[in-house]
Formats: sequence, structure tokens, C-alpha cells
Amino acid sequence: MGNSGFLASILLPTFLCIHLLSGGSVSGLGVNWGTMATHKLPSETVVQMLKDNGITKVKLFDADSKTMDALAGSDLEVMVAIPNDQLLAMNSYDRAKQWVKKNITTYNFKGGVNIKYVAVGNEPFLTSYNGSFINNTFPALQNIQNALNDAGVGDTIKATVPLNADVYSSPESNPVPSAGRFRTDISGPMSQIVNFLAKNSAPFSVNIYPFLSLYGNDDFPFNYAFFDGGNPIVDNGIQYTNVFDANFDTLVSALKAVGHGDMPIIIGEVGWPTDGDKNANMANAQRFYNGLLARLAAKTGTPLRPGYIEVYLFGLIDEDAKSIAPGNFERHWGIFRYDGQPKFPLDLSGQNQNKFLTGANAVKYLPQQWCTFNPNAKDVGKLVDNINYACTFADCTALGFGSSCNSLDANGNASYAFNMYYQVQNQKDMACDFQGLGIISTQNISQGTCNFIIQIASSSSFSSENPSSSVAVLSIFTLLTSYLLF
Ligand SMILES: *[C@@H]1O[C@H](CO)[C@@H](O)[C@H](O)[C@H]1NC(C)=O
Ligand SMILES: *[C@@H]1O[C@H](CO)[C@@H](O)[C@H](O)[C@H]1NC(C)=O
Ligand SMILES: *[C@@H]1O[C@H](CO)[C@@H](O)[C@H](O)[C@H]1NC(C)=O
Ligand SMILES: *[C@@H]1O[C@H](CO)[C@@H](O)[C@H](O)[C@H]1NC(C)=O
Ligand SMILES: *[C@@H]1O[C@H](CO)[C@@H](O)[C@H](O)[C@H]1NC(C)=O
Repeated sequence: MGNSGFLASILLPTFLCIHLLSGGSVSGLGVNWGTMATHKLPSETVVQMLKDNGITKVKLFDADSKTMDALAGSDLEVMVAIPNDQLLAMNSYDRAKQWVKKNITTYNFKGGVNIKYVAVGNEPFLTSYNGSFINNTFPALQNIQNALNDAGVGDTIKATVPLNADVYSSPESNPVPSAGRFRTDISGPMSQIVNFLAKNSAPFSVNIYPFLSLYGNDDFPFNYAFFDGGNPIVDNGIQYTNVFDANFDTLVSALKAVGHGDMPIIIGEVGWPTDGDKNANMANAQRFYNGLLARLAAKTGTPLRPGYIEVYLFGLIDEDAKSIAPGNFERHWGIFRYDGQPKFPLDLSGQNQNKFLTGANAVKYLPQQWCTFNPNAKDVGKLVDNINYACTFADCTALGFGSSCNSLDANGNASYAFNMYYQVQNQKDMACDFQGLGIISTQNISQGTCNFIIQIASSSSFSSENPSSSVAVLSIFTLLTSYLLF
């Protein structure tokens, strides 16, 4: 005891010191790095943000070579991905082998990328996809893992399918976690997938969103979405006080019912948005993350799976070009803003010592110029058309009900829309014309909770980066401009 006590008295302060300096996160905490933004931060900047905040794992939605190059040599554990629209192609084993060769083997060297997983598809069984991917997900998974095995990396790199939580449920007649089963319309492919994952010692991957439980259902008990005091539901004597645990254990039961109750489970996405809905705000996001991170740090697990859970937060940075089909909140999932600056205080180590995370370093912004509605404009008859136009090509989701810019007056609405478009267009003069209704201002026109942003001078905005999409945007642009102007 003497020796260890002596050692502890020397080592403990050193340890604490290192721990504090390194800005540690919950051990093995991951984040999702999505890139559906009109203006992207340089990949190197994002990798530095991950390091600065003690994040050790990152999940991608593709295998973009610029991202991969930036991750090389970083030691971060990486999940690369195959988007849904490439699943069918991966039904060919030759294509799967090519994919693995180009996007995995290339980076598999000392100082390369520390790839741990390949995500095959992204929530391919969402009911809103009308079954489009039901028949080609399993063959793609099988081909990719087999190609990894053939390439000699299958022991350390596992293929998995990040599934949405609606692939399983409990019957309405018995809505408890222990009654969880996979959806009957996909029970065939789900069994194939689960058996194959088990054979390859690969984990099941699922996205769980308490926010969406609340969003979809006004009768949902509000506090049950968080981790600090919902009215419990009782299942076989087990008390569930939050929907995350209940949902996770519904999956555990569904896996058990197909003979794999011990299969490792990864949370591919979990998080809370900060704008675009009445429940999407900083206070709720902070409450959610405080609860989640404390539990992850304490390795509480769930009633059916106590212990460590591997988790990837969704997401890292706001993405202003994401589809808003699911809802306006889609563009506001980041724990960082569009420009890589922290939104609210957070403690990724789960000790509830909230402070602002370390933001992106040396961000370059466009000039301090806004586009605003010209209150002296004569012909306001075309105002609505121009606002609609701006909001078709830029992000106006903060204007909606319950959102940060919902209390603007009519002129404020117009200015907000005009400015968002002007910023997306990199402040091109022409982009603040709006048939004479817009005017450029060097004065910050932000109002209250509503921030009129200045975009970043992006390393790769889609207008310069992706030729095919810029052509598409341009032709729609021409079409609409001519419609609006003539
Ligand atoms: C590698 O990944 C990139 C990015 O996801 C993709 O565009 C490309 O088609 C892949 N390469 C091959 C050979 O499949
Ligand atoms: C699914 O079907 C609905 C209704 O038929 C349709 O509106 C929607 O566009 C379809 N979605 C996809 C991804 O095919
Ligand atoms: C998937 O395969 C099943 C069985 O072969 C078939 O009945 C179904 O129509 C297919 N679904 C789609 C979307 O192709
Ligand atoms: C501003 O725009 C929002 C979203 O379109 C709308 O709900 C609100 O009524 C508008 N406000 C005014 C004063 O026109
Ligand atoms: C504009 O003002 C708002 C509110 O005061 C502030 O949060 C924001 O940082 C300012 N923007 C710029 C680019 O200075």
C-alpha cells in the first residue's frame, strides 16, 4: 500500500494536469462529420478541431479523398461510408473490390488513415425510401466485408449498416422494450444482415433520436426525451426513465429474438438540433447532451446492456445544404455552427463542467457586408417571388415557427432571406439585386436572437468544387431568373 500510495501522490496531480490540459472527452467519443454545406471549412481545420476537443473517432458519409488525406497520420479512428445511391453498384463483387482497393487499401499504411468501419449505406430501410434499398443492402454489405477479408484487412476493418431506429419496434398492444422485434416487412434482410455481422464479428449500428420522438408526436412526454427525470415506464420490473434507453433495449430484444442478443451495438448517430423547430434550441440541446455525456462517461449503459456504449454524436458542424424533407431542423444539428465556432457550452468529458469547445482556428470570412431589403424600394409587388427565390437556394429555416428568426417583421424576413442568398453566392453584387429590392449594407443587421451571418470564404463551396452540381444549379438559376425578370 505504501508504495502505491507514494506513487499515487506523485502521479495523481500529474494525471489530473494532463487530463485537464488535453480537454479530454468521454473515452472513445465519436462525432459525425457531414459535409452537405455550401461553404465548407478546410478538412485540415476540421481535423484540428477534433483533436483540440479530445474527440477520437469520426464517422463520415463517404470516402472523399480530401477528407481522407486530412485524416492521414491523425490516429483518429474513422468510419468511412458508401452512400445509398452506390449500394446497387456494390451488388457486383468486382465493384466492391474496386471500392475497397481505392478507398480502404490505399490508406492502409503506417501514417495512413486508421479505418475501423465501413458504413454500407445510410439508414437504407427508412420507410420514406419506399423500399428502394431493401433488396440491395445485404448483398452490398456482404460484398464489401468479403472484399475487406480478401484484401487481408477484414480482422480490423468491419463493414456495418447504420440503420434508423424504425427498423424495429414493440407492438402497440405491448409497447415495452422486451417486446422489441424487427419490422415484419424487412425481417428477411434484417436476419441476413444480423447473421452476417455475427459471422464477421461486426457490430450492429443504429441511429437513435429522442428529438424525433418528440418532433413526431405532440403527446410524447417531453421530459422522457431527456435523461433527468421522465415518468418511468416499467417493463418486467425494469424502470425506463428515458426514451434512449427504452429504444436501445427494444433493439437488444429484437436482436435476441433473432438469436443474437449479445451482438455489439454502436450508436451511429445521436444528438439534438438547435434551430428550425420549437423544441430545437440551445437550452434543450444542452440539457440533452449534459444527460447523455454524463451517462456515457459513467459507463451506465442501459438496463439490458450496462457498460460502455460506442457513440457518434450527430453532428459536428451545421450543414446548410441538407435536405429539409424531414424538417427545418435538419440544417442545425451541429455542436458547432457553420463556421466551426461552438454554439453553447458543453463538456465532452461528461463531467458537466460546461465550457465552450475549441472552435475552428483562423477561419477566413467574406467581408463584413450584408444584403438587406431596401425599405425605399418602389416596386414591392415582386417581393414574395424574390424571397421565395432566395429561400430556394439558401437556407431560410431559421425563419420558421419556433425558430431563432421567427419574430422578425415582414421587412426583416425579406432582409434575412436576401442576406442568406447573398452570402451563399459569396457576396456577388448581382446576388443582392432582387429586381431592385435589395441593397448592400456594411452595418450588422442582426436582430435579437436572429443572427444575420457572414459566410466563410470557403475552401470548397459547391459552386467551385463540384462541377456537376454547379451546372445543375446554374441552369435552374437561369430558368428562374428569366422567369422572374421577364
Ligand atoms: C471511393 O469513394 C469515393 C467517395 O465516396 C467515391 O466517389 C468513389 O467512387 C469510390 N471509388 C471507387 C473505386 O469505388
Ligand atoms: C415514396 O412514395 C411517395 C408516395 O408515393 C412519394 O411521394 C415519394 O417521392 C417516394 N419517395 C421515394 C424516395 O421514392
Ligand atoms: C425485393 O425482392 C422481393 C423478393 O424477391 C420482391 O418481392 C420485391 O418486389 C423486391 N423489392 C423491390 C423494391 O425491388
Ligand atoms: C416571416 O416569415 C415567416 C416564415 O416564412 C412567417 O411565418 C412569418 O409570418 C413572416 N412574418 C411576417 C411579419 O411576415
Ligand atoms: C452581428 O451582431 C450579432 C448580434 O449582436 C453578433 O452576434 C454577430 O457576431 C455580429 N456579426 C458580425 C459578423 O460581426
